[in-house]
Amino acid sequence: MTIIVTGGAGFIGGNFIHYYLKKHPVDRVICLDKLTYAGNLSTLKPVMDNPNFRFVKADICDRAAVERLFDEEHPDIVVNFAAESHVDRSIENPEIFLQTNIIGTEVLMDACRKYGITRYHQVSTDEVYGDLPLDRPDLFFTEQTPIHTSSPYSSSKAGADLLVLAYHRTYGLPVTISRCSNNYGPYHFPEKLIPLMIANALNDKPLPVYGEGINVRDWLYVEDHCKAIDLIIHDGRVGEVYNIGGHNEMKNIDIVKLICKELGKPESLITYVTDRKGHDMRYAIDPTKIHNELGWLPETKFADGIKKTIKWYLENREWWEEIISGEYQNYYEKMYARR
Ligand code: NAD
Ligand code: TYD
Repeated sequence: MTIIVTGGAGFIGGNFIHYYLKKHPVDRVICLDKLTYAGNLSTLKPVMDNPNFRFVKADICDRAAVERLFDEEHPDIVVNFAAESHVDRSIENPEIFLQTNIIGTEVLMDACRKYGITRYHQVSTDEVYGDLPLDRPDLFFTEQTPIHTSSPYSSSKAGADLLVLAYHRTYGLPVTISRCSNNYGPYHFPEKLIPLMIANALNDKPLPVYGEGINVRDWLYVEDHCKAIDLIIHDGRVGEVYNIGGHNEMKNIDIVKLICKELGKPESLITYVTDRKGHDMRYAIDPTKIHNELGWLPETKFADGIKKTIKWYLENREWWEEIISGEYQNYYEKMYARR
């Protein structure tokens, strides 16, 4: 079995490659990644010498490069993680989000049609459902919840999802889609809430909480997401959408306070800053379908997962220090200086 994993030098794709090569040691895994600011080859260092692994630097929007790779490898499965993934960046500059997240998906699926595959899997997000009100804890996103996006990021992911479903209906492409809640864990780029707060706290820098910090996210340890995708690509029903989430809703401010506590840093580092434009209030997944059909359940409790994650950032300082000492500094200045 040969599997192409796009965006494998990023956070979730990288974790997926590590998980997949351990779980399926005889399968061949090819990572296709453009190495944008979010892609990091050091994430893949542990597997670079594995004879069943190959890294190819290419843009998923580059039709010729994608077709060349399909021609060489004839993959059975394609899992598309490659995306522009940060909401704040999408608010500053939507265009690259439409390009990579929608056109890139089209180019990949066209190659799948041309060369033939057994499965194309689209890694999507719960953000395509928009948000839920804070005062309705009884409401959850199901696969039937209407698409109702808030940010250019979520709109581009929703556009891609619709295209994937259209390729199934129109061309019979064997697709699946997963829509997961917020992930956390090793190799998470430090522009996102949890790694940003860990890195800033370790450097005794202010911890910028948007608005009042009362927005709720449903956090899932990244390995649980990887296990769910592995189940879906092998046993999931073609043409179906699967929601993934662990019933672990937390307010942003509570997460930031917990990180302070775990690192022995004072809460006085917390700084309330201008809210994100269009900020979604609450995400909450109902994972009944994937549990009933595929037996998936999250295995890592948040209390353990956050400890493991913090330990990883403490033990792998060079991984994130290299990132925050580079081009990231300009981004940080631009995004946070005037908040
Ligand atoms: P990430 O930003 O950490 O990594 C994205 C990767 O894609 C990087 O390696 C980057 O170099 C690569 N990439 C970007 N544009 C590319 C292009 N045009 N061609 C080839 N490669 C390209 O993202 P992530 O957090 O790992 O998210 C992966 C996927 O999971 C995304 O599709 C995202 O929408 C989805 N998702 C993320 C979360 C989350 O909490 N992070 C939750 C649900 C779904
Ligand atoms: P983020 O990690 O960007 O994920 P998403 O927006 O996709 O859920 O943000 C998680 C939450 O944390 C979100 O409500 C915005 C908030 N947030 C802050 O309060 N401060 C920050 O510096 C960042 C990056 C996010």
